[in-house]
Amino acid sequence: MTVAERLDTRLAALAEISAGGPGVTRPSFGALERDAHAQVAAWAAQDGARAETDPAGNTVLIYGEGEPYLLVGSHLDSVPEGGRYDGTVGVLAGMEAAASVASELELGMRVVIFSAEEGARFGRPCLGSELATGAAPDGLLDGLRDGEGRSAADVAHESGLRPEACPPWLRAPEVAAYLEVHIEQGRVLERERVRLGVVDVIAGAARLEVELGGRPEHSGTTPMDDRLDALTAAAEVVLEVERIGREARHGVATVGRLDVHPNSVTTVPGGVRLVVDVRDVDAGRQDEAAAAVRAAITRIAGARGTPVEIRELASRAPVMLSAWPRLALAQACGEERLPFRVLPSGAGHDAAVVAHTAPSALLFVPTPNGRSHTPDEACRTEDVAVACAVVARALRRLDRDARGVADPDLTTTTPEG
Ligand code: GLV
Ligand code: MN
Ligand code: MN
Repeated sequence: MTVAERLDTRLAALAEISAGGPGVTRPSFGALERDAHAQVAAWAAQDGARAETDPAGNTVLIYGEGEPYLLVGSHLDSVPEGGRYDGTVGVLAGMEAAASVASELELGMRVVIFSAEEGARFGRPCLGSELATGAAPDGLLDGLRDGEGRSAADVAHESGLRPEACPPWLRAPEVAAYLEVHIEQGRVLERERVRLGVVDVIAGAARLEVELGGRPEHSGTTPMDDRLDALTAAAEVVLEVERIGREARHGVATVGRLDVHPNSVTTVPGGVRLVVDVRDVDAGRQDEAAAAVRAAITRIAGARGTPVEIRELASRAPVMLSAWPRLALAQACGEERLPFRVLPSGAGHDAAVVAHTAPSALLFVPTPNGRSHTPDEACRTEDVAVACAVVARALRRLDRDARGVADPDLTTTTPEG
C-alpha cells in the first residue's frame, strides 16, 4: 500500500467517527474525540509504537524511546460539521514520518495528538497543548462553558479525563523540536500552484464572550417602544464587529456563535450570549481591534439601556515560529526539489502554543477549494504523502543538528575567500 493509499483509508475510517449530520463532528473533550485517539493508537501499535495518554487527554505515540526527542503531531477534535482533514492530516502524516525515520535517529521520536484544539466548543482553543506545556492558568477549564452551559472540566471528567492533574510534560530540553503538518485552510498555495507552505507566523486570537440582557415578554402585546430586546442589540453588535473586521486590513473579526434565550417565536428575546473572534498576525493591531469591539459593545448597550457583560475567553498574541525547524523544513523541500512558499497562518494551531516551550514549525499542504471548517473541506492525499517525505527529511536533519553533527551540505561546500 502506498502512503497516499494508507492515508486515504485512515482518513475515511476517522471520518466515520463522527456525530450525525454532514461532515465531521468530533467535539473537544467528548467521547468521539477519545474514540478517534484510540483508533489512531491502535494503528500506531501495528507500527510497534507504544501509546500513553496524559490526564488532559493528549495521546503520545512513542516511536523511538529516549530523551531528548523530536515531536510531531496535531489534533483529532473538530468543529461542528467540519471537514475530515483539519488536524487529522497532521496526526496521520506525523505517524508516517515518525515510523519511517525513528530507527535511524539518535534522538527519541514521538507523535502527539493534542486534545481540544478547536476553540469552537469552549471558545478558547488549544486546551490540550496549553495543559501539556503548563501554559493553562489554574482553574481554566472550570470557567469555560460550551453552548449547553457545561464546563470544559465537567465534559472532560465525563470522558474519564482529569485535566487538572495534567503535569507540564511538554518541555524543552526534553522536546528538541516540534513539527506540525496541517491543511492550509486558505487559498494561497492553490492559487500559486505551490505544493507546500512553510509558515512564518501564526495569527493570534482574542475571544470575547458577550452576554446581552433583555426583558422577555409577549411578542404580540408588548409595544415596540417599550421593549428591551437582547437580540436587536446583538444584531447591532454583529454588524459593528463585521465593520471593524473589514477595516482591519490584515485582520478579521467574526461573530460565529449566538445563543438566544428563550429562542421562542412569540417572546421578545430576553438574553443573548455571543462570542466575538478577533484575529491578526500583528499583536498591536489585534489589540486595537479587540479594544474597538469592546468600545462598540459598550456604546451599543449603553444607547439601548441593555445590560451587558463582556468576558475575555482567550487573548493569544500572534506567534513567530522558530528559525531552526523552519529552516529544516525549507531545506527538506529543497532536497525533494519541491518549490514551497513562506506564508502566514490565519488559523490557530497547537504549534503556536508549543512554540513558547520548544522550537516549533508548521508545514502546510494545499486546500484545493480553500475552504475549511465545512464538510466541503478538501485535500489531496498525494500532497500529504509529499509532506510526509519532507517531514521525514527534516526530522533527520534536526536529529543531526541537535547532536551537533556537521551538516553534510555545509561540509561539501567550498568556503569562499
Ligand atoms: C482552528 O481551527 C482555528 O479556529 O483557528
Ligand atoms: Mn486544525
Ligand atoms: Mn480547525
